[in-house]
Amino acid sequence: MNAPLLPHTALHPVPSPFGALLPQPPDPLLALIKYFHDDARAEKIDLGVGVYRDEAGNTPVFRAVKAAELKLHATQPTKAYLGPEGDTVFLKLIEKIIFGPGGAGAGSFGVQTPGGTGALRLAAELANAGRPGARIWVGLPSWPIHVPLFAAAGLKIATYNSFDPATQNFCLENMQQALRRASPGDLVLLHGCCHNPTGAGPTLAEWGELAETMVTRGLVPLIDLAYQGLGDGLEQDAAGLRLVAQTCPTLLVAYSCDKNFGLYRERTGAFFVRAGEAAALARSNTLQLARTAWSMPPDHGAAVVRTILEDPALRMSWQDELEKMRLRLLHVRQSLALEVPSLDALRCQQGMFALLPLSGDQIESLRRDFGIYMAGSGRINLAGLTDATIPVFAHALQTCGFQNPS
Ligand code: LMR
Repeated sequence: MNAPLLPHTALHPVPSPFGALLPQPPDPLLALIKYFHDDARAEKIDLGVGVYRDEAGNTPVFRAVKAAELKLHATQPTKAYLGPEGDTVFLKLIEKIIFGPGGAGAGSFGVQTPGGTGALRLAAELANAGRPGARIWVGLPSWPIHVPLFAAAGLKIATYNSFDPATQNFCLENMQQALRRASPGDLVLLHGCCHNPTGAGPTLAEWGELAETMVTRGLVPLIDLAYQGLGDGLEQDAAGLRLVAQTCPTLLVAYSCDKNFGLYRERTGAFFVRAGEAAALARSNTLQLARTAWSMPPDHGAAVVRTILEDPALRMSWQDELEKMRLRLLHVRQSLALEVPSLDALRCQQGMFALLPLSGDQIESLRRDFGIYMAGSGRINLAGLTDATIPVFAHALQTCGFQNPS
């Protein structure tokens, strides 16, 4: 007769594979999606996660994306693997959109990534593999995932304040002081345009000054370009990055197509590196890091972007729709500044976001009393406002005691 099976613990203690885990709160930005969804009030306003919305409150699929999807459906011959670098034609086309017709130059390469976040993670992993424990300088406030993402890859983090809430301006001098404290080989995070969460970034002249400091001190720029086309225009939004690329021999760029192609959930991005003589080494390591992380990036979004950029009519349609989105964001900025005169600084900022100096209680009151949802930092997504809701939002701000930032 077989002996009854004893639970393992009766024989010897088995360490739990989850024993060291600590509870993690839900991601505060992404949690807003559900909180907003669960709010039954018809008049609720979503100023939370960074998704573009039109005047009707929708996030439509670009016409060019729909057309490209139809074209792909009819013509795509296979879905066989492409390899860890993804779609090389997509990469060449995006490289030109970022760097201009000459591309990123000698000693550079690109790798397709799952969204801009995948590109940032790959950048951080490569930097840490190349110089274990390398340090990255991050101006605060920044996109909330920047610091934990870099730390998760093993980078050391150095922070400084790059925003003055009173004037609502980018602080060049604070950044310059930080860069003067940095050591050669340190990385420097820059938002390519449309700073998230403040909307306030360097002027072109300031980009030039920062590039000079970085090259003089041997620092390595890591530029996160996630909103190209939503600030001053497709070309203009790359101008700061191109200035850095002209000045600094080595640079890393994390690119996202989430917003400017409206491909959010398709996770479409790219990582570009200019590494000079170390390019072959950096490339083989990047491909190996990608292979051990996600093996190969998801194809669909990149195939859509390639199809759009290869077809002059679709490309024009995409640019036209992107420009309309940009103009709508500008219109919302101007209208809100008119409605709330203390927010005049919004006019000088760019992109989807503004960081309002609201207290936790005020943010809570806006949610509870008015159904207005925003990040806990006071960041608002301007695309969540319309001509009809701007006065409602202005009234809510006044009611909750919002003061002039200065
Ligand atoms: C945002 O900042 O709201 C977006 O970039 C979405 C995200 O992933 O955080």
